[in-house]
Amino acid sequence: MTTAGTQTFKNFIAGEWVDAQSGETFESTSPATGETIGAFPKSGAADIERAVEAARAAYEKWRLVPAPKRGEFLYRFAQLLTDEKEDLAQLMTREMGKVIAEARGDVQEAIDISFYMAGEGRRLFGHTTPSELQDKFNMSVRMPVGVAGVITPWNFPIAIPSWKIVPAIVCGDTVVFKPATDTPRLGERFVELLVEAGLPPGVVNVVHGGGGAVGEALVKHPDVPLITLTGSRETGVAVLRSAADNLKHVHLELGGKNPIIVLDDADLELAVDGIVWSAFGTSGQRCTAASRVIVQDGVYDELARRLVERAEHMRLGPGWEPDTDVGPVINKAALEKIHSYTGIGRDEGARLLTGGEVATGNGLDSGFFYTPTVFGDVDPGMRIAQEEIFGPTTALIRVRDLDEAVQVANGVQFGLSSSIFTRDVNSAFRALRDLVAGITYINAGTIGAEVHLPFGGTKQTGNGHREAGQAALDFFTEWKAVYVDYSGKLQRAQIDTEP
Ligand code: UN1
Repeated sequence: MTTAGTQTFKNFIAGEWVDAQSGETFESTSPATGETIGAFPKSGAADIERAVEAARAAYEKWRLVPAPKRGEFLYRFAQLLTDEKEDLAQLMTREMGKVIAEARGDVQEAIDISFYMAGEGRRLFGHTTPSELQDKFNMSVRMPVGVAGVITPWNFPIAIPSWKIVPAIVCGDTVVFKPATDTPRLGERFVELLVEAGLPPGVVNVVHGGGGAVGEALVKHPDVPLITLTGSRETGVAVLRSAADNLKHVHLELGGKNPIIVLDDADLELAVDGIVWSAFGTSGQRCTAASRVIVQDGVYDELARRLVERAEHMRLGPGWEPDTDVGPVINKAALEKIHSYTGIGRDEGARLLTGGEVATGNGLDSGFFYTPTVFGDVDPGMRIAQEEIFGPTTALIRVRDLDEAVQVANGVQFGLSSSIFTRDVNSAFRALRDLVAGITYINAGTIGAEVHLPFGGTKQTGNGHREAGQAALDFFTEWKAVYVDYSGKLQRAQIDTEP
């Protein structure tokens, strides 16, 4: 079974399960009930030192393992994830809190990318291209980079580690993984399954602990050329600064303030379904959550009415209960932050249409539950329409037409996901062209990215990289251009080009 109670877990370094050098631990608890999930090593720079050394040593062998062979480990891993899907989902609903159907989806995302990247072992295509010179052969190949430092959040505790660790493995990199301190048990299970798949010692190492101690030591370590982080904008900026001294390659996947546009000609019922799923799914704790709904004047009142009605009928509870619609938020600090934004919205003059309360009673008191919250009459410049809340709160903004809708949609610092509901193909294609975001959905909400497409955002959502799909390979490899001259004489490029 996966719910381990008071069991103490370890780091995994060079193929061994080991305690933190400090001997200290921290606890993981369920956000729904407060039950203890387990104790985990409170690691620090000394543990990172050992893990990086193990990953660096393993890299010298791993980079030489043929990529199809590296892919075979991932086929086995994908199969193990499939076999363990239900157990992992049950553990996830306890440790992280999301409702069970979504927890299964989180695991499925990891299964999908593992099968996809396993197949990359037999592709990892480069290019062959003609030379400008006679008797010369040109090609480009992908080369592994070295040790990847992988820092993941708690909101997709299996899926997000998989987006980062799985491509690193097939590309020939090795990994030091720091899972979020709110979901260490899931990070640990992820690594256990990689071990079970037969991955050689040192290829993936896990070190538990906080961002300040473990994360920073990893980001600053000179032998870790790759850093990939999904987290807050503030953490992203700090990581980029720390990594600058060693000119590391940094991939950042940060915040969102994702809009759903609803035009007058939209299928309103479908739009409401999309909004409810995108704003309140995962209790709003997705980077892709719809925290703004930009509605054309003609349908604004009716949409607001239907949305409020739906929000008020959502059942809060532990994620494992089959009739729960909205699970807890991750911890007390998150609950307080979300609630503080309700106060900010009120003070700014937005109209609280529903929710806005810490949910209590009915067995919810020992967890962190927040009622689905909808603000109306929100001005696009208000803080609740600009800042990432990361909770079940969405803001309705009224607009005249598509042009204004797009302008409002783009008027934030982030650009991850976006969506438009319309029956007019011209409006849909205009939005597709003009929304400045890494993802645009037509007639669907803002969540639901599939693993074989690039995932990431524009502007301050990131730093231009993408994960998942083919795009992931660009971060975990570097291009090498190869020139083979078989003329037997010196041929100077750009000079000896006349036949
Ligand atoms: C995230 O919240 O960082 O599209 C990831 C989605 C999911 C992934 C979200 N497939 O919402």
